[in-house]
Amino acid sequence: MHKDVQKIILTEKQIQAKIQELAKRINADYKNKDLVLIVILRGAAMFLADLSKQINVPHTIDFIVATRYGYHDAPRGEVKLIKDLDQSISGKNILIIEDIVDNGCTIKYIYDHLKQRGPKSLKICTLFDKPYNRKIKIKLDYTGFLVQEEFVVGYGLDYKQKYRNLPYLAILKPEIYKN
Ligand code: IMP
Ligand code: MG
Repeated sequence: MHKDVQKIILTEKQIQAKIQELAKRINADYKNKDLVLIVILRGAAMFLADLSKQINVPHTIDFIVATRYGYHDAPRGEVKLIKDLDQSISGKNILIIEDIVDNGCTIKYIYDHLKQRGPKSLKICTLFDKPYNRKIKIKLDYTGFLVQEEFVVGYGLDYKQKYRNLPYLAILKPEIYKN
């Protein structure tokens, strides 16, 4: 275990098993359909890498970079788009890949942004969901785990850009936040 970690919430094994389950559902739902995965960087990069390998429906991948500036500095939840899509999504089946949905501002912003561009279908897949902090109502089509903890790191999720590489989901020791 990493020296800054207080507790592991979900192990690598639990996360990988859940990703297989999600991929099975996606494979069934998008059978014989063209699929585009749109990934919200940077947090969802790990999730995409593992999920995409388990999806057997032919699909392309594109990236959006969004920031809630920053998690600890902007509790009102302003979202900023730093990089937009490289391809048109008009008439395509789009699945948004997100790491965690917290108050919902980020995913709602991206959802509305993509909706304007005329996709054939638009759905959301998030690995983690913290529904207790939700400020904006949004339908999540595929959810991996409900998370009760206030702030978690690992498996793509960061604190000050660190800990994304941990293969598990964890909470940090309280003294880490004091630095
Ligand atoms: P929302 O706009 O509050 O739904 O926040 C979503 C974004 O905030 C996610 O894409 C993450 O990048 C970040 N975030 C929310 N909760 C956590 C957390 O517990 N740990 C790390 N990042 C988080
Ligand atoms: Mg983030």
